[in-house]
Amino acid sequence: MTVKSAMIETSQKTGNFITLEGGEGVGKTTNMGFIRDWLSERGIPFVTTREPGGTPVAEKIRHLLLEHHEEDIDGTAELLLIFAARAQHLARVIMPALARGTWVICDRFTDATYAYQGAGRGLGLEKVAQLESLVQGVLRPDLTLILDVDTGLGLSRASQRGQLDRFESETHAFFDRVRQTYLQLARENPQRYRVVDAGQSLVSVQRDISAALTELL
Ligand code: TMP
Repeated sequence: MTVKSAMIETSQKTGNFITLEGGEGVGKTTNMGFIRDWLSERGIPFVTTREPGGTPVAEKIRHLLLEHHEEDIDGTAELLLIFAARAQHLARVIMPALARGTWVICDRFTDATYAYQGAGRGLGLEKVAQLESLVQGVLRPDLTLILDVDTGLGLSRASQRGQLDRFESETHAFFDRVRQTYLQLARENPQRYRVVDAGQSLVSVQRDISAALTELL
C-alpha cells in the first residue's frame, strides 16, 4: 500500500482499531476472548485477527517467520517479511473492515515490530518507523493494550506451552529489551497506550481492559 492510498483510506476509517501487545506468556489469547465477549455483549460489529498473519498469504509468511531454519534469517529480511505480511493484511482485512465501520481487534501489530525487531534484534527503532510510514501511511491504532508482566514469569509461562518457536527461543535479555521498549512506547504516547499489569488476577486484568475499552465508546 502506498502512503497516498493508505492516507486516503484512513480518512474513510470509521471503526476503532485496537491492538493487543506484550511479550511472551502475558495472556493475550485469554484476553482476546474477553475482548470478543465484551464487544459482542454491546452489539459492536468487530473482527479479530492477528499478526504476523491474518490472511492466507500473510499466514504463510508467519510460518516462515516462526519456524526454525537451518539458515539464519537476516534481521533486515525478517523485518521486511513482517511488513510484507502487514501490507497484505492491511489491504485485505484491516482497512476494508475499518472502512465499513467494523472494529478491528488485532493480536499484535507494529508495536511488536518496534519491540522485537527494533529493540530485541537491535535493528533500531528508526528503521521500523520508516517502514511503518511506507506501509501504513498515517494509520495507527486508536488503542493499544500492552499486557505487561515480569520477563522471567512470562517466559516460564510460555515454556509450558510446548515446543518453542523461533522467537520464543530467544534469550531473557532479548525479552527484557522487548518489554522495556513496549513500556517506553507507552510512556511516550500515553493517549494511545494502556499498560495493563498482567501479573494481577485475571479479574483485575479484565477490569482494566474493560475500563480502557469503555473510553472508546
Ligand atoms: P504470537 O502470536 O504467538 O505471539 O507469535 C508471534 C511471534 O511473532 C511473537 O513471538 C512475536 C513475533 N513478532 C515479531 O517479532 N514482530 C512483529 O512485528 C510481530 C507482529 C510479531
